[in-house]
Amino acid sequence: MGILSRFKNSKIGSSISYHIKPRKVKFEWKDTPTDWIPNQAFASYFVNEINTILPAGEFWFCRLYNKVLPKITDEKLAEDVRAFIRQEAMHAQAHNSANKEYLTARNIEIERNLKIMDFLFNKMLADAPLGLTVPKVLDHQWDLFRLGIIATVEHMTCVLGKYALYNKQWERLGADPNMLDLIKWHGAEEIEHRTVAFDLYRHLGGGYISRYYQSLIAIVAILGLWVDGAAHIMGQDPRFADKKPAFYKPWIWREWADIAQKDNRILPHPFWLISQQLGYLTPWYDPVHEAKTEDAIAYLDQSPAAKRALLKVA
Ligand SMILES: [Fe+2]
Ligand SMILES: [Fe+2]
Repeated sequence: MGILSRFKNSKIGSSISYHIKPRKVKFEWKDTPTDWIPNQAFASYFVNEINTILPAGEFWFCRLYNKVLPKITDEKLAEDVRAFIRQEAMHAQAHNSANKEYLTARNIEIERNLKIMDFLFNKMLADAPLGLTVPKVLDHQWDLFRLGIIATVEHMTCVLGKYALYNKQWERLGADPNMLDLIKWHGAEEIEHRTVAFDLYRHLGGGYISRYYQSLIAIVAILGLWVDGAAHIMGQDPRFADKKPAFYKPWIWREWADIAQKDNRILPHPFWLISQQLGYLTPWYDPVHEAKTEDAIAYLDQSPAAKRALLKVA
């Protein structure tokens, strides 16, 4: 495909020839401590917060993708999208299991965080936002805007997926194997299906320039929700209570940056995360070049949670 066609809303289809494979998984939470990275309470809470952020968003991806499926005219892309839906639904279920059997079981109050995500994805970004019916003439534009947001977020989940998949430091520090597997399994599948959201966005007419404001919205929302949610769960811990963590107070941002500055293998630096968005804004952006599918598959083939699920079926 030529550079020029990337600027136009050319009807492109699937950009991959391999088949994305939905996998069942089963996680066991009884032995996972709150500090799943030993002696790294802040980082443990910070990563734990993704459990409450992700499920509502991932189920929203699934609903919107099911809605637009009939509009897809490329057979392979439709196959990719169906596999994507099954993978994202499994991700949401896996993180939900962590919410119930792990965080809630350790007496961490997460309902407030779940309610915010529920409002965002089930009300604000619904087919009828805040209950208002979108006029027929704007319906496709509303879908395209939301598909653009998903494509942007999927670029970030691919970046974070890579960070998690290649991370060796958590293991070195004695991280809980179950939580480690959840993150690496999820990260690896994000790499495996990294082309789908971008292909779909462009296939249905998504433009280039819109990627700029969609990226801005997505970055602000993700960093804000992440820090806000993490502040809520760590604020319940006596070790952090005196800080009264909140997203509008500098402490939590400074602490995040300090930990990443000291060792960026424990947490990715917020500025690094923002910088990773620049690639998405170039006209030659192509998710295929963002990561190596083989590395993702190699992990997925030996993921303990995937093996456990296979055993259950057998
Ligand atoms: Fe996911
Ligand atoms: Fe994804």
